[in-house]
Amino acid sequence: MNAPLLEIEDLVVEFDTDEGTVRAVDGAGYTVLPGETLGVVGESGSGKSVTAMSALGLIKPPGRVASGRVVFDGVDLRGLPPRELRRLRGGRIAMIFQDPMTALNPVMTIGGQLTEALRLHDARMSRAAARRRAADLLALVGVPGAAKRLKQYPHEFSGGMRQRAMIAMAIANEPDLLIADEPTTALDVTVQAQVLDLLREARRETGAATVLITHDLGVVAEMADRVVVMYAGRVVEHGPVAEIFRAPRHPYTRGLLDSLPRMDEDADELTPIPGAPPAPGEVTAGCPFAPRCAMVRDRCRTERPEPAPTGPGRTSACHFHAELAGEDTDG
Ligand SMILES: Nc1ncnc2c1ncn2[C@@H]1O[C@H](COP(=O)(O)OP(=O)(O)OP(=O)(O)O)[C@@H](O)[C@H]1O
Ligand SMILES: [Mg+2]
Repeated sequence: MNAPLLEIEDLVVEFDTDEGTVRAVDGAGYTVLPGETLGVVGESGSGKSVTAMSALGLIKPPGRVASGRVVFDGVDLRGLPPRELRRLRGGRIAMIFQDPMTALNPVMTIGGQLTEALRLHDARMSRAAARRRAADLLALVGVPGAAKRLKQYPHEFSGGMRQRAMIAMAIANEPDLLIADEPTTALDVTVQAQVLDLLREARRETGAATVLITHDLGVVAEMADRVVVMYAGRVVEHGPVAEIFRAPRHPYTRGLLDSLPRMDEDADELTPIPGAPPAPGEVTAGCPFAPRCAMVRDRCRTERPEPAPTGPGRTSACHFHAELAGEDTDG
């Protein structure tokens, strides 16, 4: 077994708000192996982004990492001075966001930003070499006329082209870990497919492990090796994508899958999960999914289920995961 590249363990992240303390992440954890793609899914507010941000040391007041461990390549990030964290970000760990404008500087040319990113992490690189590499990177991500485009500002790029430019920035320094947070959500379907191809290409080019956060289970099926399902700040199920999707062992995962259109089903057979996740700050005794769960028993309302093994490399945090095993329909 490879040593994990990233290990997040028992992470608790809290935010101070006007309504009191909100526990955004409540004991979540996962590992990322070198070179693999890990999909992270779950409804809005389940803590996908906040968990990933902790891996970049990006939780800032009013938020704080209250407890837990975040270890990158053997080093605990919580003990790392801000300067070293900044060096990791954009170096060995890079991030791709839904909105490229959060990563791009609007008053600097694309070429200027790329060369700056390159030289920040390699002080010996000459300006001319950085410019050449910047042009190569833009060409690699499929921005036509790269040499001319380097002189343009982000607002002169279309949305899809900006996304490409951001991916070029992210892979500029050959990161070991790429965190892509809803990288295609804001794009139309055609551009979405192109950006996914590009992510694959970036992965091939850099060999980077990828944490792919998305609402789209289809994207996970296509791109990821393993998947983590989050609910209310916890990991409720995780394991190899093919197995989890074929035979989920948590009612929430099953609910997510049942609400997806399938080739062999009519659209009217889709069943969305009833109800809504707990509101931010709401504290539930027992299983946080209990109020929405079709299998709920008394025990679920009082006793919190912890992740338990359900097979090689997979866990489920459901008291009754064994009952789901008996119901496998074989996809
Ligand atoms: N700056 C903040 N201040 C207060 N609460 C926050 C802050 N950032 C996040 N939260 C809370 O943390 C919880 C988890 O947020 P997070 O952004 O990780 O969810 P998510 O799973 O990424 O959702 P989405 O799919 O909508 O991106 C939410 O309930 C949110 O209200
Ligand atoms: Mg998010």
